[in-house]
Amino acid sequence: MGSIVVSKSVLSGEVEVSGAKNSALPLLAATILTDEEVILNKVPHLADVETMFDILRTLGKKVQYDRDSGVARVSGAVDKAHVPYDLVRKMRASFNVMGPLTVMLGEASTPLPGGCAIGVRPVDYHIEGLKKLGFEIFFEHGEIRARVGKKDEFVVVHLPFPSVGATEHIMSVATLLPGTTVIENAAMEPEIVDLQDLLNKMGARVRGAGTSKIIVEGVEKLHGCEHTIIPDRIEAGTYAIAILSTGGEGQVKNVVPEHLDALWSVLERSGAYVKRGTNYVYVKSPGKWHACDVNVLPYPGFPTDLQPQIVVYLSTAQGTSTVTENVFKTRFAHVAELVRMGANMKLKDNTLIIEGVEKLQGATVMGTDLRATAALVIAGFVAEGSTEVTQVEHIFRGYERVIEKFRGLGGVLEYRPGGVPEI
Ligand code: UD1
Repeated sequence: MGSIVVSKSVLSGEVEVSGAKNSALPLLAATILTDEEVILNKVPHLADVETMFDILRTLGKKVQYDRDSGVARVSGAVDKAHVPYDLVRKMRASFNVMGPLTVMLGEASTPLPGGCAIGVRPVDYHIEGLKKLGFEIFFEHGEIRARVGKKDEFVVVHLPFPSVGATEHIMSVATLLPGTTVIENAAMEPEIVDLQDLLNKMGARVRGAGTSKIIVEGVEKLHGCEHTIIPDRIEAGTYAIAILSTGGEGQVKNVVPEHLDALWSVLERSGAYVKRGTNYVYVKSPGKWHACDVNVLPYPGFPTDLQPQIVVYLSTAQGTSTVTENVFKTRFAHVAELVRMGANMKLKDNTLIIEGVEKLQGATVMGTDLRATAALVIAGFVAEGSTEVTQVEHIFRGYERVIEKFRGLGGVLEYRPGGVPEI
C-alpha cells in the first residue's frame, strides 16, 4: 500500500463537496429492484462505488458511469444469484444487495461482508428483519443463503439499535413484498431520506424516513427514474474540521448545513465562527479554541464517521475534552497513532479523555480505516514538520479527488502510490 506525506499547512479557501458515498451505495443496491434504467446524478468516483458497480455488473446489470459528470446509468435484469467473495470482502455495504437480489430472483447467496476494520460489525439485525419479512435464511460455509417465503400482511420490525444499513436493507426489500411493513427504531440519517426519495420515484410507497418509524406499503413492480444524490455530509464535515484544526478559514460548498447541526454546535462551543449559508458553510478559526465534550450517537447526534477527525481538532484545544463513542464502541484505532504524534489522550471504556497539547509533531503513522486515515492526514497538516500516513488507500474509499481538494485549500501533501492506483 502507498502513503501520503503531509507537511504543516494552514488550510484556507474554498472546497466543493461531492455526492454522498453512504447514499450512493444503498441507492445503487436499490437499482436491483427494477429492470428499467435508473439514472443517478452526483455519484462520487470512489473505490467503494467502483466495487458496487462491479457487484452490479457481476449480477447481470448494465452500468455506465461517466466519472467527470458523475452520472451513472444502471439498467437490465439481475440474472446471477450469487455475489462473489472477492467483491463482498472489500466492503460491508455490499451486503445490502442480498435482500433486493433475493426478492428479484426468489433465492440468492452472499458471503458474510467485510469493510472497514472498526470493530466487530455483525449483520444480525438485517437477518432478523429479513426473517420477519418471511425470508428463509441458511448459513453455509461462511455464506448466507436467503429464499423469499410468505410475508404476513402486517409486519413490524423493531430494530434493537437504529442501524443505518439494516434500516436501508429492510426498507428496500419491503417495497416489493405484499402488505405493510413498519420499521420501528429506524435510523434517521439523511441518507435514509435520500433512499426513500429514490424508491418513491421508482414507484414504491415509503413514508416516515427521517423519523424513527418508517412505513412501507408493498407494490407489484418498480420502474426507472432519475435522481440526484445528496451532498456528502461526512466529507463536508471532514474539510470543515481540517480547516479549523489548522487555524484557517474557508468555505465548504455543496452542503446541506442542517445535516451537520451536531458538528456545528461542537465547533461553535469550541469558539469557532460558523456561518450556515443556503448550500454552503463558512468556518473561521478563533486561533486558539476550547475543549469540548462530544457524545457520538446515531443521527441527529454527532456522527461516528467524524469522530476520528474531531479527536484531532480537540487534541490541540485548550483544556480537557471527552469524546464518547456510542455507535462503534471500539472505534479508536487512530488514538495510538495520534499519541505517537505527541497528542495526550487516554481511553476509558468507550470514552476518550483528551488533554489539549500546544502542538503535534510529525511522525510516520498508519491508516487503519477510512475515517481514521482522513484524521491522520489532518493531523499531518497540524503537526510540526512532515508526517507520513502509510496504508493510506483507505482514504480513496470515501473521499473523491482528496489530494486535489486538500491542495486547493493550500495543503502541502504528496501521494506515493504503493501498488493500488489513486482514483
Ligand atoms: C453505516 C455507514 C457507516 C457509518 C455507520 C454508522 C454506509 C455505507 N456506512 O454503516 O459509514 O459509520 O452507518 O453511522 O452507510 N449492528 C449490529 N448488527 C447489525 C447491524 C449493526 O450489531 O445487524 C451494530 C454495529 O455493529 C454498530 C451499530 O449497530 O455498532 C451501527 O451500525 P450501522 O448503523 O448498521 O452501520 P452501517 O450501516 O454498517
